[in-house]
Amino acid sequence: MRSKRFEALDARPVNQDGFVTEWPEVGLIAMDSPNDPKPSLRIENGKIVELDGKSCADFDMLDTFIATYGINLERAEEAMAIDSLTFARMLCDINVPRSQIIPLSTAMTPAKVTEVVGKMSVLEMMMAVTKLRARKSPANQCHVTNVQDHPVLIAADAAESGIRGFAEMETTVAVVRYAPFNALSLLVGAQTGRPGVLTQCAVEEATELQLGMRGLTAYAETVSVYGTEAVFMDGDDTPWSKAFLASSYASRGLKMRFTSGTGSEVQMGYAEGKSMLYLEARCQFITKAAGSQGTQNGSVSCVGVPAAVPQGIRAILAENLIAMMMDLECASSNDQTFTHSDLRRVARSLMQFVPGTDFICSGYSATPNLDNMFAGSNWDAEDYDDWNIIQRDLHIDGGLVPVLEEDVVTVRRKAARALQAVFAELGLPPITDEEVEAATYAHSSNDMPKRNVVEDLKAAEEMMKRTVTGFDVVRALIKGGFEDVAKSVFNLLRCRVAGDYLHTSAIFDEQFNVNSAVNYPNDYAGPQTGYQISDELWNRIKDIRQAVSPESI
Ligand code: 5AD
Ligand code: CA
Repeated sequence: MRSKRFEALDARPVNQDGFVTEWPEVGLIAMDSPNDPKPSLRIENGKIVELDGKSCADFDMLDTFIATYGINLERAEEAMAIDSLTFARMLCDINVPRSQIIPLSTAMTPAKVTEVVGKMSVLEMMMAVTKLRARKSPANQCHVTNVQDHPVLIAADAAESGIRGFAEMETTVAVVRYAPFNALSLLVGAQTGRPGVLTQCAVEEATELQLGMRGLTAYAETVSVYGTEAVFMDGDDTPWSKAFLASSYASRGLKMRFTSGTGSEVQMGYAEGKSMLYLEARCQFITKAAGSQGTQNGSVSCVGVPAAVPQGIRAILAENLIAMMMDLECASSNDQTFTHSDLRRVARSLMQFVPGTDFICSGYSATPNLDNMFAGSNWDAEDYDDWNIIQRDLHIDGGLVPVLEEDVVTVRRKAARALQAVFAELGLPPITDEEVEAATYAHSSNDMPKRNVVEDLKAAEEMMKRTVTGFDVVRALIKGGFEDVAKSVFNLLRCRVAGDYLHTSAIFDEQFNVNSAVNYPNDYAGPQTGYQISDELWNRIKDIRQAVSPESI
């Protein structure tokens, strides 16, 4: 006989999720592995000779890189001498400002910061995130993809995402050779939606760099780093090769951040028995050491691994916090889907949503998940009203604003038309009026007419051979009668020459002014300080189309 209660529970969505018990020997443990090293640091003649229990003769390449470039030596002995519990209390204390924390937290070792955050509850970590997020205001990032790589749909979805408030948008491909079209469509669509949105196309590293240098994208993000030497080598990389790639982007004035997260090392079978969080702490030190302004972390695409073990979601918040302790911009994941349970997916996101991070989702799926080519996101286009209403319920800026159907339709049509003009001017396969209309009203790629893929791919390849650049896009937009969109694309190129958006946590406002950790730093110091939602924004957040006026009834 089965308990009817347990039968009902077994049928709940959460029980379709996978859960495992801890297995520290292989690193299947979120925090506090018995094999994690104890914090230690010894400096001789201005050089680190011992790091977290290892002497320099035993350093692997990650230790060497971190010891050489990753630790602020001036304050290191002082920082390491602070009791970890005392420092944990400083992190969540409103009376200890960020400016006092960062010089110390960047002078610690990976094992030390891991030990510190291990002493904090999620609530205390959220307090620390409120204070330590680099940019004063939070923001959000979205994914704009579809199974057909339909360029017109990408442009329309990007434009809608623009008016919904996203500060960054990324695309990736279903078919690799579509990458130039996806980048181009996202660029045109995003600038139609809202001037100043940053766009990227996540593909293989050489192509991605080329798209950036051509001015078809404005930033890069999926430069992966890992916490053990074996996993790093598996990807034919070293910390130095990643640092070189980071410098290549910087040399062209392009924003970039690294990506890492708990679970990758154990998933690839080389975790050395260490906890996921300790290995991710090493990734954050490598990110800092390589000179990257920021990170996309929080397990990201490996979320299924920490989510399956005890306190895995706590570890994800802890790794976001460690990124902020390194004075890095943090795009805090809340992207890849990890659960069948609506309750669980909201609970996971509150950790970043409530305090606010530089990018709460890194990405929110701007399409229904069936079109999400990043393997589906924790939040998708069908959740927009839920997100907006949770913002309104809690008086929180989660980076989005409610929009009206007619405004969405208008901006989607404009983006589709702008891309139609660009394709015509650049001699790419024509975009029909039927495609423009379909994209204007579409929910997913199921609503789109099919394109001639063979012709598209040939043209995408030729477009790269002809070295079409962002400047050609500007010219095509002007010729096609879209001067305002042209001006925004041109401004993106211009800002690259100035280089201001290389600063930590940089995003643009609609006038292409940079808001970053340099000119707009987080100065939270308790109630009524730091970032406050303006009256104007609050009026927009609370003005949802579903609310009826009681007076009018
Ligand atoms: N560690 C390292 N890189 C990751 N990515 C996603 N999750 C992780 C992780 N935990 C990167 C990969 C992937 C892209 C979406 O982001 O490069 O292709
Ligand atoms: Ca992302």
